[in-house]
Amino acid sequence: MDFKLTEEHIMIRDAARDFANNELLPGVIERDDKQEFPTEQIKKMGELGFMGMMASPEYGGGGMDTVSYVLAMEEISKIDASASVVMSVNNSLVCWGLDTFGNKEQKEKYLTKLTTGESIGAFCLSEPEAGSDATSQQTTAIDHGDHYILNGTKNWITNGRTADFYLVIAQTDREKKHKGINAFIVEKTWEGFEIGPKENKLGIRGSDTHSLVFNDVKVPKENRIGEDGFGFKFAMKTLAGGRIGIAAQALGIAGGAYELALKYSKERKAFGTEICNHQAIAFKLADMHVSIEAARLLVMKAAVDKDNAGNYDLSGAMAKLYASQVAMDVSVEAVQVHGGNGFVKDYHVERMMRDAKITQIYEGTSEIQKIVISRSIING
Ligand code: CAA
Ligand code: FAD
Repeated sequence: MDFKLTEEHIMIRDAARDFANNELLPGVIERDDKQEFPTEQIKKMGELGFMGMMASPEYGGGGMDTVSYVLAMEEISKIDASASVVMSVNNSLVCWGLDTFGNKEQKEKYLTKLTTGESIGAFCLSEPEAGSDATSQQTTAIDHGDHYILNGTKNWITNGRTADFYLVIAQTDREKKHKGINAFIVEKTWEGFEIGPKENKLGIRGSDTHSLVFNDVKVPKENRIGEDGFGFKFAMKTLAGGRIGIAAQALGIAGGAYELALKYSKERKAFGTEICNHQAIAFKLADMHVSIEAARLLVMKAAVDKDNAGNYDLSGAMAKLYASQVAMDVSVEAVQVHGGNGFVKDYHVERMMRDAKITQIYEGTSEIQKIVISRSIING
């Protein structure tokens, strides 16, 4: 497989790197501490084209490939994983889902605002009783002719308060099980839509995670995505690509922690020499480097599979499973390399360690990725 980057890829990667260093790094510790959403930074990311990278240019998107997207995700995540989850949900779940499965009217009305960052989107699948077990949807959307009436609760929704438009998965016909599930575009301002309190999280604290409650929300029929009963497939197909974005996020967190550990190990002296000269530290750096490179190959393979219109369920799940483990392992070791300094906020690595954990949980836990992988290799 040829992973040679084009000039355009390099330009996008460098632009994301510059943006992350110049605009996200200042204030990242404070935003994490105060659980402050990076409002201004996300606005600028929209202006720079980072919020709808893969979407069609006719709807304001960048028309870029998945490789470009993962390169940008990696760079943003090296510095600020809270900003990158906002970017990830908007790009690979909301914009991609709408661009691929929405109709012309839906794209003109919603996608054009989402690709430019004028509006932010959220993807609402999880519920108190339907997390990993996503087919057990309790939220209902009852057909009333020209509209549906939506009732229920979603939890853990990224961009929960900041979003303007929400892609909501709900059960229309319980007898049909997952074939009776639909996906809808819901606007924040509609009557009966309530946003719950913000979750106080371990990591990605700059992103806003909320539960959402729908009380008899009237959703026009034209806001259903795809044919009746397409909602679960919509969620699964969209998440298959989303997982590549989260794998890139994990890769970025690992890379960010590794770069800080390497730098610190060349500066900090103990026993009369820089700590990188102690084999125990040097070998940690070697292990980090190898695992990050291996994760990068899996992430790039998944991105290339998606760009080549191949099946990327398996490669995306493998990339997410592996890269998220690498993010966890590398960030824990980066704290260790920093000694006591690793345990305080100023050195960034403790935040990266906290941020890394979520990559093993959302968009399908590691156990769920193993279900996807094992089914794929067993059933072909
Ligand atoms: N593409 C298309 N269709 C798919 C599919 C895919 N990748 N995966 C499953 N399906 C289809 C199946 O073909 C089946 O349809 P048919 O009966 O017509 O063939 C239907 O979906 C049901 O599939 P399963 O029988 O495999 O369903 P299951 O109950 O065994 O569950 C699962 C499968 C993979 C475990 C799924 O429930 C799952 O992915 N769970 C995890 C949920 C998740 O990832 N949530 C993330 C929320 S978003 C988020 O987290 C965002 C964020 O943090 C930032
Ligand atoms: P459960 O499904 O209850 O799982 C608990 C444990 O059991 C896990 O370890 C799991 O792997 C394991 N488990 C469950 N079933 C099996 C099985 N069959 N085999 C083996 N192990 C199993 N969701 C959205 O829809 N949109 C969002 O924007 C979003 N953002 C999120 C942001 C954050 C910060 C968080 C924490 C979550 C977010 N989620 C979002 C929800 C996330 O996708 C779910 O938390 C995740 O899918 C797991 O579901 P759960 O929390 O209900 O755990």
